[in-house]
Amino acid sequence: MNPFLQAAIEIAGEAGAILRAGYEAPKKIEYKGEVDLITDFDRRSEEVVVSRLRERFPDHAIVAEEGSRREAANARYCWHVDPLDGTTNFAHGYPCFCVSLGLLEDGEPIVGAVLNPVYGELFTAARGEGAYLNNRPIRVSSVASLSQSLVATGFPTHHRKKSANINYYWEFTLRSHGVRRDGAAALDLCAVACGRFDGFWEFGLQSWDTAAGTILVREAGGMVTDMDGKPFQPGARVVIASNGKIHSEMREIIARVSEQVAKA
Ligand code: IPD
Ligand code: CA
Ligand code: CA
Repeated sequence: MNPFLQAAIEIAGEAGAILRAGYEAPKKIEYKGEVDLITDFDRRSEEVVVSRLRERFPDHAIVAEEGSRREAANARYCWHVDPLDGTTNFAHGYPCFCVSLGLLEDGEPIVGAVLNPVYGELFTAARGEGAYLNNRPIRVSSVASLSQSLVATGFPTHHRKKSANINYYWEFTLRSHGVRRDGAAALDLCAVACGRFDGFWEFGLQSWDTAAGTILVREAGGMVTDMDGKPFQPGARVVIASNGKIHSEMREIIARVSEQVAKA
């Protein structure tokens, strides 16, 4: 197995055990913003992930959500870490959250490991080596039209009043079997990778939300792009992920609603 993926799996397992224990335990909840939550377990998970990555890969750069950084001049590799994606769910006892580790090589996602420790679901992928759920190969769905699709999105916790996504949500709701809003973007992308969702879009995600999920979807045969159809780079403002077959329909709707939102 790809040695970077092997390391990501082991480290995700260690962080996942912390989150799993935290799920049952009392939590200290603080606010980073109006509805932007952080718990002591976000921090504990990040500490473990970042210290393990530092030990194993001293020349790799690291960007993690709760503030850990390691700049490495001209680093070829950079890990993007969400120590707890779905913090609001975690804080409310809704078992949809994960730890997500994605590795970029010269800006390209090449390895991803995403673990939901409550469901015991580990999603993994490495470039050219396929995508897996608990070691079994996964593929995107084969649904060919949006009207027969189940899609997903998310809403930001930061500057939430400025988000226009409810307009897109409405349009997709009318044109599909429905839109799910599960609150953990890394898992939304994994759900596209294994065919549970046929598509996913969101605005304003950070690189740690999408680095792992992007390689998962691509290795499972799907597409991840920006609004123009160009390959998505983790950290870009808009992400559109799909099974490939409904991608152009999704892009058309997003472009149309964007025009309406801009005029309004
Ligand atoms: C959030 C989740 C959510 C998405 C938000 C993210 P966090 O991450 O991924 O699904 O809609 O935009 O900020 O804060 O739980 O790590
Ligand atoms: Ca997080
Ligand atoms: Ca996140």
